[in-house]
Amino acid sequence: MNNLVKINPSFPQRHWLQKAATILRTGGLVAFPTETVYGLGADALNPAAVEKIFAAKQRPGWDPLIVHVRDLAMAESLASELPANFRPLAEKFWPGPLTLVVKKNPRVPDAVTAGRPNVALRMPKHPVAMTLLMEAGLPIAAPSANQFGRPSPTRAEHVVTDLGKRVDLILDAGPTQLGVESTVLDLTQSPPAILRPGGVTREQLEALLGPVTLAPSVADELARQGLAGPGMTQQHYAPRGRVELFEGDRQIVIERLSARAAELRQRGHCVAALVSDEMLPVVEPVTELVASFGVWGDWEKLAQRLFAAFRVFDSQGAIVILCVLPPAEGIGLAVRDRMQRAAGILTKQTS
Ligand code: TXA
Ligand code: MG
Repeated sequence: MNNLVKINPSFPQRHWLQKAATILRTGGLVAFPTETVYGLGADALNPAAVEKIFAAKQRPGWDPLIVHVRDLAMAESLASELPANFRPLAEKFWPGPLTLVVKKNPRVPDAVTAGRPNVALRMPKHPVAMTLLMEAGLPIAAPSANQFGRPSPTRAEHVVTDLGKRVDLILDAGPTQLGVESTVLDLTQSPPAILRPGGVTREQLEALLGPVTLAPSVADELARQGLAGPGMTQQHYAPRGRVELFEGDRQIVIERLSARAAELRQRGHCVAALVSDEMLPVVEPVTELVASFGVWGDWEKLAQRLFAAFRVFDSQGAIVILCVLPPAEGIGLAVRDRMQRAAGILTKQTS
């Protein structure tokens, strides 16, 4: 049986959402769209169902999952205590691309949190995700629906490629809007710490909270202690082609990137480049595979298209992928993080 169904993104068909909810309630896996990327969902309170997520993604057991909630009451039921800044953050940014890490309630299985005392909670802003949460009446544990280490899925076909029949049902509502994942904010630290930059920007958080810090993610922390296993965290969000990054003002990036493309091509490599519209006339003549994200400075568009571009270049056999690295502000911080990880540059963020 085909496990992929087309869903209207704004007015999801009830019939399919009810079917998906039944799968979740009986311990199965459903891939569904959120405003960031597609998630691979299971009943967060059913340890056996949660284990299936780890198996399907080949995700190491030390990497905890985000739990998606339909309302504040559900979030409260999964936490043991909520710090004072939780409610103002949830009121301002939920539903939306912000994940809040708080002390967990004993109801939350260890499989979800990888044995940690904290749980990550998020209310997604997508009609399909929200309707699914309502229909199922359950908190849904869901990481990105990609194979571990690969770029996150921004289209249902990416889920099919990576996970195929290991998912009981895939709800296809077309491309996701943001393209990069949620911001993970740890509220158990003071000041609050960004463990992963994402859709809600550092500037937006600081406008509400005052200064927040950037701290290592669970994977970074374990890698630092040598506990994550070789190769497990060096590259993340990564295409098969080798990623090279170019940073600076537009003219400098155009010159350096096109010179590098020409050099690699001369050596016989299949070169791909993800560039801005203005760069096309210079880059196209010296590069085999070129895609544009839009005009220079439109980093939202770059965020939206990055992972899909990686996958297209992979399917075309790119050996090297040249990318423009945006400045570390707004959504640029999240895009830089993903690109640097894809390039295998483990960023040791400390401030
Ligand atoms: O936008 C998103 O966040 C997507 C959609 C599907 O919601 N989900 C997602 O999940 O990106 P995943 O599993 O690919 O990334 C979750 C991140 C990981 O870096 C994980 O280490 C961190 O959140 N995380 C989850 N639970 C945590 C916890 N209890 N403490 C610290 N970090 C946690
Ligand atoms: Mg992921």
